[in-house]
Amino acid sequence: MSKNANRAAWNRLSNGSQFAKVATDEECRDPLKTLDGRGWLPPSVRGLDVLCLASGGGWQSILYASAGARVTVVDISPGMLELDRRESERRGLVVRTLEASMDDLSGLGDATFDIVHQPVSTCYIPDLAAVYGEVARVLRTGGLYISQHKQPTSLQISHQDDRRRFVLGVEYYHGGPLPAVEDRSYREDGAVEYLHRWEQLVGDLCRAGFVIEDLREPKRADWKAPPTHFGYRGRFVAPYVRMKARRIAREVASPSSQQLWVPETLAGD
Ligand SMILES: C[S@@+](CC[C@H](N)C(=O)[O-])C[C@H]1O[C@@H](n2cnc3c(N)ncnc32)[C@H](O)[C@@H]1O
Repeated sequence: MSKNANRAAWNRLSNGSQFAKVATDEECRDPLKTLDGRGWLPPSVRGLDVLCLASGGGWQSILYASAGARVTVVDISPGMLELDRRESERRGLVVRTLEASMDDLSGLGDATFDIVHQPVSTCYIPDLAAVYGEVARVLRTGGLYISQHKQPTSLQISHQDDRRRFVLGVEYYHGGPLPAVEDRSYREDGAVEYLHRWEQLVGDLCRAGFVIEDLREPKRADWKAPPTHFGYRGRFVAPYVRMKARRIAREVASPSSQQLWVPETLAGD
C-alpha cells in the first residue's frame, strides 16, 4: 500500500530533513510575506479558516496561525504532525491537527474553509481528481486553493547520459507507482510517487469546480551548480508548478449548467 509506505517515509523524513523545518522567528515576523511572495493571499487572513493540506512539518501552519488564521493541518504522517503540534504549543498558537489522507477528508465538513494551501504532495496519490474533489467540497464558494505539484516531465527523468543530457526514461502515460530511477534529485527516499499529466493537473482542477487565476513555475535553475546538483537539472526542466485557483459557485460548477447558452435565433441551426 503506497499510503503506508509514504507514511513511513515521511515519518523518517520528519526527523531532520529539509522538509521538516519549522517556521523561524524571522519568518514569523511577516508571515504572509514569507508564505506568499506573489501576492496571491488577501491582505489579511485574520479570522479566516485555513486548511494546510498535506502540510505537516510546522512551517505553513505556524505562519498562517501567526497571521491570525484559524488553522487545521492535515497530513498522513504522525511524525510531521508532531512538529506542528510541538511548535504551535511552544509559540502559544492554536493549530488543529488531523491525521488523514488528502484524498479522503471525511473528517472535515463541507464548505468549512476559506483557504486551502497545499505544498508539493499530490505526487503521493494515484488519483488526483479525488484530491481536487475533496478540496472543492471543503472550500467555501469563492475560496482560494493554492497548490504546488511536481511537473510530469521532471518525474519522467530517469538519469543523465554520458554527455550529461537528461534522459526521459519514464513514459508520459506511465500508470501506477513510478519506477526507481538513478537521478533522484526531486524524489524522496522510500516514498511511492505517481506522475500526473497536465490534463490532470490543470484539467481535473477545472472540472472539480475551480477557475485558475494564476500559474507559476518556481525556478530551481542554478547556473553555477555542478551537473550532479539539482540546480543543474533545474536549468533544463522546471520541477514544480504552483497554481492559484478559486472555488466557483456550486450552481455554476454543476454539470447541468455547463451546457452552452445558445441564442434563440441560432437554436434551430
Ligand atoms: C513536501 S512535504 C510538505 C511539508 C512541508 N511543510 C513543506 O513545506 O513542504 C509533503 C507532505 O505530504 C505528506 N503526505 C504524503 N502522502 C500523503 C497523503 N496521502 N495524505 C496526506 N499527506 C500526505 C507527507 O507526510 C509530507 O508531510
